[in-house]
Amino acid sequence: MSQFDTMHMVEHNFAKANPNYLKSIFGVTDVMPLWIADMDFEIAKPIQEALQKLVTRNIYAYEFNTGDVFKAISDWNLKRHQLKLSPKSFVQVSGVLTGIGILIRELSEKGDGIMVQTPVYHQFFKVIESAGRKVVSNKLKVVDGHYQMDFEDMERKLKTLNIKAILLCNPHNPVGRVWTKGEMQKLIDLANEHGVTIISDEIHSDIVYSGSQFNSIASLDDNENHVAVIGSPAKTFGMQSISNGYLHIPNENMLKHVKNTIGSLYLDHGSIHSANATMAAYAKGEEWLDDLLAYLEKTMHWIEGFVKNELPKVTLYKPEGTYQVWLDFSKLNLSNAALKHLTVNQAKLALTPGNWFEGSHTQYMRMNVASPLSKIQQAFHQLKKALDESVDCSFNEAESNDSCCSC
Ligand SMILES: Cc1ncc(COP(=O)(O)O)c(C=O)c1O
Repeated sequence: MSQFDTMHMVEHNFAKANPNYLKSIFGVTDVMPLWIADMDFEIAKPIQEALQKLVTRNIYAYEFNTGDVFKAISDWNLKRHQLKLSPKSFVQVSGVLTGIGILIRELSEKGDGIMVQTPVYHQFFKVIESAGRKVVSNKLKVVDGHYQMDFEDMERKLKTLNIKAILLCNPHNPVGRVWTKGEMQKLIDLANEHGVTIISDEIHSDIVYSGSQFNSIASLDDNENHVAVIGSPAKTFGMQSISNGYLHIPNENMLKHVKNTIGSLYLDHGSIHSANATMAAYAKGEEWLDDLLAYLEKTMHWIEGFVKNELPKVTLYKPEGTYQVWLDFSKLNLSNAALKHLTVNQAKLALTPGNWFEGSHTQYMRMNVASPLSKIQQAFHQLKKALDESVDCSFNEAESNDSCCSC
């Protein structure tokens, strides 16, 4: 029995199980919530202890220890990824998206383009558009069942459109790619040729499976024309609601500008809970993380076998990194409404709709599998049962001419 087998209560005030959210997104509340990318697991013991120490101390005087936090992040990256990061090049922000939002404003003007590799983490659209910038989609392509970047499309768009930054997601959410050195180098060469900055969101960098190797932008781009959003311990250690974000900016001029902006908004120091939990995680959480990765790898292996043997019409993109699986249901030949009815009302699953990540991906869904294996197995069995029974068409009576399914 692994510590990750323990089924913990998913509280209703957690966003992913919040009945108001479920109702507004899925139309029902009696669904297994596997959508938001967080974990059902208890955090590592050293992080629990660090937080308990703070809570029992009961004094919250000003306490600034960002220098120690940056050192902890540097030490972790050196040990884990053989990545040398200077603590002096770090900037703290209150979250990864906050950091990206600030960088976009620093690096571009209203109306400029920011390129993303779609389908991609849906908040990227909001963070770009809410700043008055334009999303330029560089669609990923599937070659031999494997997602790849489309460098020809990228080059054409970098040449012809007014693009100021590429917002890279590495490892990629939701398709699970961990970009290889070769792919990263091509991207860097193109960006440098066109004077475009790369903002690399590396929040999922520690969740990488055997056979793949994470390469931070910071290890490859000598031109310093990049900002690595080294991320935060959020995804790695399941600290979504108590973590900060960290930017690593090797270019001194850019670092000065960003520091000034963040400093002038007083966003450069976070809560002591977050700081101490971060230091505990990076200094003492490695064993827990190795156990987690082994557990998730076992889960992925089980999912791969189940989909292959029991769900032949569902295509699984087994991730190289992240704890999301990306599922393609298009071979079922269902209308979008029928697919939604089947997964939500019949299989009783709340999965993230694929079109959140790119409009045309209506036949795809992302499943978050950072839960006890028994729960994930249950989810897949529910899906199989629904597929075996096929779509209950009664939901569709008003539109019985729906031509894309058997209804
Ligand atoms: C790629 C990526 N970036 C950023 C975030 C959110 O980070 P934060 O909560 O620190 O803003 C997520 C959360 O799922 C993510 O997947």
